[in-house]
Amino acid sequence: MIGSEALPFAKTGGLADVLGALPPALGRLGWDATLVLPRYRGVRDGVFVDRIPISVGGQPAKVGFFEARVSDRATAILVDAPDLFDRDGLYGSEHVDYPDNPRRFALLARAALEWAALRGTRPTVVHAHDWQSGLAPVYLKTLYAGHPVLSGTPSVFTIHNLAYQGLFSADWMPRLDVPASVFSQEGLEFWGQISFLKGGINAAEAITTVSPRYAEETQTPEFGCGFDGVLRRRAADLVGILNGVDVDEWDPQRDPYLPAHYSAADLAGKAVAKSELLLRFGLARDPSAMKRPLIGMISRMVDQKGLDLVAALADRLPVLPASFVVLGAGEPKYQDFWRRLAARFPDRIGARIGFDEPLAHLIEGGADMFLMPSRFEPCGLNQMYSLRYGTVPVVRGVGGLFDTVREGATGFVFDQYTPEALLETLRRALAAFGNPSKWRELQLEGMKQDHSWDRSAREYVTIYEKVSRNPG
Ligand code: ADP
Ligand code: GLC
Repeated sequence: MIGSEALPFAKTGGLADVLGALPPALGRLGWDATLVLPRYRGVRDGVFVDRIPISVGGQPAKVGFFEARVSDRATAILVDAPDLFDRDGLYGSEHVDYPDNPRRFALLARAALEWAALRGTRPTVVHAHDWQSGLAPVYLKTLYAGHPVLSGTPSVFTIHNLAYQGLFSADWMPRLDVPASVFSQEGLEFWGQISFLKGGINAAEAITTVSPRYAEETQTPEFGCGFDGVLRRRAADLVGILNGVDVDEWDPQRDPYLPAHYSAADLAGKAVAKSELLLRFGLARDPSAMKRPLIGMISRMVDQKGLDLVAALADRLPVLPASFVVLGAGEPKYQDFWRRLAARFPDRIGARIGFDEPLAHLIEGGADMFLMPSRFEPCGLNQMYSLRYGTVPVVRGVGGLFDTVREGATGFVFDQYTPEALLETLRRALAAFGNPSKWRELQLEGMKQDHSWDRSAREYVTIYEKVSRNPG
């Protein structure tokens, strides 16, 4: 398996949750999974095993491999190339991508395949995730096509987010070790540029996305980000597999970041978490504040997450009978929006700008509702965490949100991407909150949902078995 971030090593978003949980889940099904990812700055895990020369585009590098055991049958290999990975950020800094990202992630794919080759046995399948590993399927079909170990290895490519396409100038072509012939419509050429994402989609034997609904949506112009034609062409090999929840990490009965634990049988601890959460954000927590519904948000602050809808309601949200706690980082305009709103309503609106894993858990535990008004959402994990934590999700019905939240049964769902639809749905949720027995039913129905990884992992295994029987 190849990817650019994974818990517990490095995380900016949901990909890290998935790559932290899927390899052990495959292990529980009897598969041996090796995940290869970069050894970024600050990662101390793993024992040194080897260092070998790997050249990309004629530029040699000495690449180290550190091995960290993830579970009985799952291992992480951290690729050590300090020139490329020992930097402030994973993909860029100060909102600017690193200009040598094509080289950085070409090297990641090369290093992963070289590591597999060093083992001397052909992997059953190479599973590459998102554009950062999009060249791996391409290399298998080209550079490694006649390789003594890797020749014929099938690959699966998973799209976690079509909006990130790994687009680079065609000037990079001679520096990536791919033949000129792949700069084509059936290869990785995209409107005159190189797309690592397109390379992965076109070269892999099977393609998956992270929810069934998103698999359909990606084939439409509205959600396809220009790739709908590419995906329609490969529709026969494309499936949606819903992400799971890592129940070791996200469980209100034993979450170390909650001040008290709780379960469907006894929700008392949830009120303790709410009180602690209000305190942490410096909001009022007198009895009337404790009774007021508390709406939580945790999100990368980017257009995808529907923050423009929220911003359009700047004057109307604060007059709702609710409090808000928001955690996130991203585009300055959204960060400023929340900071300003929190400054205007300090007893009812709290905003924390930054990345804070413990606080994310406390929000899931302490909030009454969780808001995800996404413009699009390939899967989304927080709504599933919310369901487990008895925190009723209020979502836009797209992608994985559509697949996991049921209007009036486990949460509240709106369709039109408009501030009015969002506001009307929040009002519906707030009205339901006013009816404690109805609210309890919603919470309990959500807490009953089973989104454990084992089911999703079994679906991946079905794909692995299929492509390894019929390699392309
Ligand atoms: P995406 O991958 O598009 O960001 P997901 O819902 O799949 O969306 O996953 C987001 C993950 O990142 C969740 O685990 C969420 O709790 C976490 N997360 C996002 N922003 C923050 C933050 N500022 N602090 C802590 N965790 C965050
Ligand atoms: C992406 C998507 C998100 C998904 C995550 C993990 O970041 O934006 O919806 O849950 O990948 O698959």
